[in-house]
Amino acid sequence: MDTRPYSTWLEVDLGAIKNNIKQIKAMTGTRLMAIIKANGYGHGVLAVAKAAEQGGAEWLGVARMEEALNLRAAGIKIEVMVLGYTAPVMIPEAIRNKIHVAIYDQDMTKAFEAYAKKANGRLKVHLKIETGMGRLGMAPELAPDFLSTYRNHPKFDIDGIFTHLARADEPQFDSAERQLTVFNKLLGKLRSEGLCPPMVHAANSAAVLNFPEAHYDMVRPGIVIFGLDPSPGSPVPETFRPALTWKARLTSLRVLPPGHGVSYGSVYVTSDHERIGVIPVGYGDGYRRTPGQQVIVRGKLVDVVGRVCMDQCMLQLDAVPEAQAGDEVVLLGKQGDQEISANDLAARWDTINYEVLCGLADRLPRLYYE
Ligand SMILES: Cc1ncc(COP(=O)(O)O)c(C=O)c1O
Repeated sequence: MDTRPYSTWLEVDLGAIKNNIKQIKAMTGTRLMAIIKANGYGHGVLAVAKAAEQGGAEWLGVARMEEALNLRAAGIKIEVMVLGYTAPVMIPEAIRNKIHVAIYDQDMTKAFEAYAKKANGRLKVHLKIETGMGRLGMAPELAPDFLSTYRNHPKFDIDGIFTHLARADEPQFDSAERQLTVFNKLLGKLRSEGLCPPMVHAANSAAVLNFPEAHYDMVRPGIVIFGLDPSPGSPVPETFRPALTWKARLTSLRVLPPGHGVSYGSVYVTSDHERIGVIPVGYGDGYRRTPGQQVIVRGKLVDVVGRVCMDQCMLQLDAVPEAQAGDEVVLLGKQGDQEISANDLAARWDTINYEVLCGLADRLPRLYYE
């Protein structure tokens, strides 16, 4: 991995992703759809897709058709599913590229049908059921009639039925149990009437960890394949490894005199002679403008001082006299005995680790290693 051309970059451990996927497969014993939407949770979708396949994922899940087509254009051959909305006009492309789509209401199905008729081949469909998420999904009571109408359709293969759990990261509450009860009741009815699609799936990362009864024929983990916790109350096992490190180079180091303002608005003013360093990272990279942040330099936590700019921010380096321009600085990850995790950044930014990852700007180079 040659980091010399870059001033800030992400290092992604593809071995960690493969290891995490292997562990999920061993825990669940089912097929696995690696959820790699939003640029592979910020890690870089194509490299993650290949690592996921090598780790044993049989399926890849994304949110949008553009993401699915991007995988196919890159030569990814394993099963790909669009979990969210697909524009009807894209159905011929879905058929041509053998991409599974979610279906969740009658009008949508009719629109898909009209476009499917114009294409060669059959559309791979998974019926999404509303069990309590309040997002996308057909009401369970409508599903039996829907399936009996469409199961022998000349243009549709209804390959799957699925739902999504809203609170599987809260195993102490019975919300996920309630959703699973609704889903299981429907599955029982469909099975007794010979209407159940071949594949049933429901489990996001939290349900992979907390609800074995939700594993069914396939699990759909996202955040845990990157080695991160679905929530503070649902940590990944210690054997899972985070895949991401964010680094930058110290691009300038100066001693500023007392009373010197640092960055826009001079909200930080030096109180003495202070060693102030610069790193080329800012909110244009997804590093937030929150005050009171820290990064790691030469294995020590140091303060980010003054306002974070679009492409740069400043560090107070008095505690690290050995620091030099060119040093590697860690914003997320480990250096020496110190670590700043995605959870730490999420707490700092009053958000969740998912949003930290998805906020990593496209312009950050992603460098891969195993
Ligand atoms: C339908 C669906 N399944 C699975 C996932 C994966 O979720 P997680 O990253 O919590 O495992 C998502 C992500 O939001 C999703 O929308």
